Amino acid sequence: MSSIERMVEKLKLSTSNGGVQRKAVERKPVGKTPSSASPGRTAKQREAGFTHIDMGKLENFGFFAPPQDRAKLAEEYRRIKRPLLSNAFGKTADAVELGNVIMVASAMSGEGKTFNTINLALSMANEMDITVLVVDLDVLNPALTRLLELDEKLGLTDVLSDPDVELADVILSTNVPKLKILPAGRRHTQANELLASDQMQRVTHELSTRYPDRIVIFDAPPLLLTSEANVVAGLVGQVLLIVEAGETPQNAVKEAVALLDERKVIGIVLNKYKGSGNGPQYGSYYAAYGEEQG
Ligand SMILES: Nc1ncnc2c1ncn2[C@@H]1O[C@H](COP(=O)(O)OP(=O)(O)O)[C@@H](O)[C@H]1O
Ligand SMILES: [Mg+2]
Repeated sequence: MSSIERMVEKLKLSTSNGGVQRKAVERKPVGKTPSSASPGRTAKQREAGFTHIDMGKLENFGFFAPPQDRAKLAEEYRRIKRPLLSNAFGKTADAVELGNVIMVASAMSGEGKTFNTINLALSMANEMDITVLVVDLDVLNPALTRLLELDEKLGLTDVLSDPDVELADVILSTNVPKLKILPAGRRHTQANELLASDQMQRVTHELSTRYPDRIVIFDAPPLLLTSEANVVAGLVGQVLLIVEAGETPQNAVKEAVALLDERKVIGIVLNKYKGSGNGPQYGSYYAAYGEEQG
């Protein structure tokens, strides 16, 4: 059996494994909408920029689980983040180059990359001793950037295309302690191509090494629709592949996994899994993890 088949097998197993513990919700909605961006400011003026993340708005847009599922999902993210953190800083970290850079990927759109990025980032930001940087890598369809009303801000495309714009100029602090955001940046005619550039490799390396206690999460474009996403998958230490339960065709999962470098650490999350029980249950069921053995 190939490693891909083994992964998909594990994935199938996980669909019947719905039992998880329940714990308290991690965060409550806070605050108001961030003030609108100021496009006239130069990169230097933006240094140490700040944005207010409006949790109520994220909730309205469906980026948290429905209230009845929230505690369950919070527990699931605790389980999902443990091996990711271990590969970044823990026992297995030495074996994983750039293990603190995690790409949240999926075959297509709408499978839950952005949802998982946000929930995982908030869960990780709750950890002692680590900081989290979320990067909107979906530069053609920057849903996260739009959601946070950061469309006008300089961001990743600017760092990749303009040598005068440095990372420090465009990384934004937020009202969530220990959580920072790097928006997608301004529209660029070759936005996706920029992701496959040498500069992206340098930026990824810098993001990984600048702060030793930092987890970097890439909210990626769809693997099967954006060939540059595969290039980025080769740059990061870990890939978290989101599969939408009952929606992502198994062939698409196989194709997406086949595009990934098998030497990378790959985890699979079965998202939007509706378990048995009363009413709809949304889950992110962590299914497979780690480099496949032989
Ligand atoms: N586990 C989940 N529970 C509830 N809603 C979810 C879940 N995952 C995704 N969604 C919702 O599904 C939609 C698509 O998810 P999104 O993260 O935007 O997908 P992608 O980034 O892969 O295009 C969004 O409205 C999101 O809120
Ligand atoms: Mg998205």
